[in-house]
Amino acid sequence: MKIIGISGSPRAKGNTDILVHEALKAASEMGAETEFIALAGKKIKPCTGCGTCRTESSKGICSIKDDDVPRIYEAMKGADGIILGSPVYFLSVTAQLKALFDRSIILRYAKGTPQDRPGVPGGPEFLLKNKVGGAIAVGGGRDGGQLFAINSMLQWMLLQNMIVVGNNYGMGGSAKAGTKGDVKSDEIGIAMARHVGLRVAEVAGRIEEGK
Ligand SMILES: Cc1cc2nc3c(=O)[nH]c(=O)nc-3n(C[C@H](O)[C@H](O)[C@H](O)COP(=O)(O)O)c2cc1C
Repeated sequence: MKIIGISGSPRAKGNTDILVHEALKAASEMGAETEFIALAGKKIKPCTGCGTCRTESSKGICSIKDDDVPRIYEAMKGADGIILGSPVYFLSVTAQLKALFDRSIILRYAKGTPQDRPGVPGGPEFLLKNKVGGAIAVGGGRDGGQLFAINSMLQWMLLQNMIVVGNNYGMGGSAKAGTKGDVKSDEIGIAMARHVGLRVAEVAGRIEEGK
């Protein structure tokens, strides 16, 4: 079982990275092989809406080829579970993570769009279908929009036909921290992040057992 954790923060080794690492540690304690991917320092161009990925001749192929997105999608495709983390930026996820979400439309179009294939049992084959996902957010405010950011991440997962999990506390990991590294003293935030990792590994493990 492979679980990857993606930190959507542009600030390397910041609070989101720390939380995603904690979640991955919990997943590895459940027996998962893990990989951490930071969006900090990566080139992630936004979707231009060119429509190339929808055409018959290039189904699921993106016209943007000169950035780090294809490699990140390869890691997603090879994973059984995906943990996403983001700092709250203006009550939502970072622009980097949103760009990654928008570009991921190709992961829904690999075998045609839902409109192309109405009535196909299960619909078109979404490449992230049935992978397990969980989300973590950290904001400087106590009620700074963590839940909105978590919601954005879980909604993206639902649109990819993934299976989403929450944790014992709520919809995901929610932490409060402003300056870099501060989250280490948010004991509850760390526990919530760890519990996201545990739930993702638990459900991914059950799916693997049932295969
Ligand atoms: C552009 C920007 C917007 C932000 N917006 C919010 C916000 O809406 N709510 C909040 O609680 N914190 C907000 N913050 C604070 C960050 O979420 C917080 O510092 C977080 O710990 C950063 O995580 P990182 O170290 O992983 O980058 C914002 C920070 C930046 C730079």
